[in-house]
Amino acid sequence: MKVTLSVIKADIGGLVGHSSIHPDLVEIGKESLKKAKEAGLIIDYHVTAVGDDLQLIMTHDKGVNAEPIHRLAWETFEKATARARELKLYGAGQDLLSEAFSGNIRGMGPGLAEMEFEERPSEPVIIFMADKTSAGAWNLPLYRAFADPFNTIGLVISPSMHDGFAFEVHDVKAGKKITLNCPEELYDLLLLIGSPTRYVVKAVYHKASGEIAAVSSTERLSLIAGRYVGKDDPVCIVRCQHEFPAVGEVLEPFAFPHLVEGWMRGSHNGPLMPVALCNATPTRFDGPPRVVALGFQLAQGHLIGPRDLFDDPAFDEARRLCNTIAEYLRRHGPFEPHRLPMEEMEYTTLPQVLEKLKGRFQDI
Ligand code: F6R
Ligand code: MG
Ligand code: MG
Repeated sequence: MKVTLSVIKADIGGLVGHSSIHPDLVEIGKESLKKAKEAGLIIDYHVTAVGDDLQLIMTHDKGVNAEPIHRLAWETFEKATARARELKLYGAGQDLLSEAFSGNIRGMGPGLAEMEFEERPSEPVIIFMADKTSAGAWNLPLYRAFADPFNTIGLVISPSMHDGFAFEVHDVKAGKKITLNCPEELYDLLLLIGSPTRYVVKAVYHKASGEIAAVSSTERLSLIAGRYVGKDDPVCIVRCQHEFPAVGEVLEPFAFPHLVEGWMRGSHNGPLMPVALCNATPTRFDGPPRVVALGFQLAQGHLIGPRDLFDDPAFDEARRLCNTIAEYLRRHGPFEPHRLPMEEMEYTTLPQVLEKLKGRFQDI
């Protein structure tokens, strides 16, 4: 059977500040999706929160960009926002950038990753959800899982993966996309995705079959709003096993806490810390950025699970290293490269402060 997996998320209010979410918002999310399941609109759902973002994980048979599914997510966020306003949670309704829903949630503030596929005899999927970082955060781990034989031994020794994968890359500033085949165009791929602020891996496909393997959210809140409204806090869906990398090969890149942009005021570089759900509550300097991995098996579209995959002592060293890197970077205070370079601060609150000094510059 064909199934669509949709992950739609939004920051609609934090407890306390931007560190976490109130349980009432998660409850409202569950209640809303329960009704939609009973009404036959969706097959199954799982509602959770990572940092201050409410995450709606849904399966259905309506395909990607389906109006009723996007409307359901939008209306769920609106209901939860009303409660966030009552509780005066911080930044209530922050990511709902439009007054009213207009048919497709894309470009309206919330982030989304969706894929439609024929459910295999066994269908393991991982849903990655990050807080305090932006859309390009998946570039490095997706590259390593799907193109780097030092990470994914299956690329070398599994006949079903040996041909490699195709990467769909979006230029989020120019609004253009390109597909690059790996391993043959690996250097071209790296040329682009090594700049994750601009080039973002949107999807990965199995090259021989064309099957979708991974999809990420590429919404850049700042580019939508034209000003700083908080970080994108992206999500990513990855199908695993058989012709795709094994669960362990997909998780392996996160054993190295790579630097991502985000953290305090969305204006800093910091290490991405893989954590269990209970630790997805960024506090130190509003961070460091976190990533959670929930694993599910699909059964006729039903979500069996989740397994909280970073809830494993095998990631303790990554977390420790993360804290060491965080400590080292923090000592730079307001200096680059801890603080983002000037050009990338364009969509933060920095330009307003700069404006004040404008008249005082003299020619040298
Ligand atoms: C980062 C983030 C926080 C806020 C910071 C200041 O993505 O959301 O670090 O930027 O707490 O928030 P405001 O400006 O709302 O006081
Ligand atoms: Mg927030
Ligand atoms: Mg957030």
